[in-house]
Amino acid sequence: MANRAFLAANHLLYRRIARPVIFRGSAQRAHEQILKLLRWLDQQDSLQGILEKFHDAALDVCPVNVGGVELASPLMLAAGFVKGVGFDGEDAALAAVQRGENIIPGWRSMPRLVGAVEFGSFTRWPRLGNPGNVIWRDVRTRSTQNRVGLKNPGARAAAAFLKLHQDQLPHIYGINIAVSPGVSDLAQERREVLEALDFFLTESLHPSWLTLNVSCPNTEDDPSGHQTEDRTRQLCEAVVTHLPQTIPLWVKISPDLAPEQYDILMRVFAETSVRAVIATNTLAEPTPDAPHLTAGVAGGKLHDTAVAVAARLIHEKSQHGYTLDIIGCGGVQDAATYRDFARLGVKAAQYWTALIYRGPLTAGLILSEVNHD
Ligand SMILES: Cc1cc2nc3c(=O)[nH]c(=O)nc-3n(C[C@H](O)[C@H](O)[C@H](O)COP(=O)(O)O)c2cc1C
Repeated sequence: MANRAFLAANHLLYRRIARPVIFRGSAQRAHEQILKLLRWLDQQDSLQGILEKFHDAALDVCPVNVGGVELASPLMLAAGFVKGVGFDGEDAALAAVQRGENIIPGWRSMPRLVGAVEFGSFTRWPRLGNPGNVIWRDVRTRSTQNRVGLKNPGARAAAAFLKLHQDQLPHIYGINIAVSPGVSDLAQERREVLEALDFFLTESLHPSWLTLNVSCPNTEDDPSGHQTEDRTRQLCEAVVTHLPQTIPLWVKISPDLAPEQYDILMRVFAETSVRAVIATNTLAEPTPDAPHLTAGVAGGKLHDTAVAVAARLIHEKSQHGYTLDIIGCGGVQDAATYRDFARLGVKAAQYWTALIYRGPLTAGLILSEVNHD
């Protein structure tokens, strides 16, 4: 049984002490500090067991089978938190791995603390991401906004790094691979996704699921261009054919497509044996600093839109008898927002922004509220 007194004390400490301190500085600075802390935590052998104890005290085992994966709990940490640092080339990223640098801060400590984590997004080639201030928070609506721009070490270095630490990887984790931004040629896009995937497979890494991210709004691309019927079909077909049967394919989609496009995508996913759809990624809106730039909104400001998308997908699923699962993602921060997805028939959800507003044991808090409210 999750320890409710432990959760309540943790929540109080986070709300009264940790969060005010974290929120004193900018979201950007807080993000950088948290990555530093994770890098340090990953190195502390003696603390890993304590993180596991925190996890066990906060979260009941509540198994759910979703998208072909047996999860210990219905809440997962979404992609984008444990995704690694950026590099301007593959040689530099591989050299950092060889020097023993931690290029994916949180890879060891976060799964121990929060449970299932989706690592990534990783792209075929490393990316430095966007310069300057790229993360904001809107406290009133409990939202975040970011234009990190798919900063990541690239799939080859990420796979090499995870391989080095294979014995320390969690039993259950996902890998999220994003299509290469700026690539409009479909053959090249497909080739780069398959190459990225191959780096993980040839290192004998066996994630519990593989998410194909066709919906990142913070790059040089318009993500809706990746989510056309033909493109999505070809990509999903290629990836499913390439994946071992034991690794199910999930796809992560945008929150702002035309309603009919969701129906088309559901048909494509069903026909190409995609096992789950993550609804949704962030919603592009002008940034607080520069209205001519857009950045992905998440948390409270995304929630209603993401729920509406999930509702449309669930409706299509039941109309046509599709067997793939819908995974809620967007503003899941408490019992009410969790139930908004659950009452549609969504069996599992992902969260990111809730970590910022409710602290590291947020999954335990949400599920405890769901069970006791
Ligand atoms: C700073 C930041 C970086 C993110 N990076 C990624 C990413 O690399 N890949 C991805 O699929 N989603 C990424 N996301 C989106 C989240 O996975 C999630 O879909 C979104 O934040 C909505 O969930 P939330 O409302 O619980 O935050 C990112 C989100 C944030 C806030």
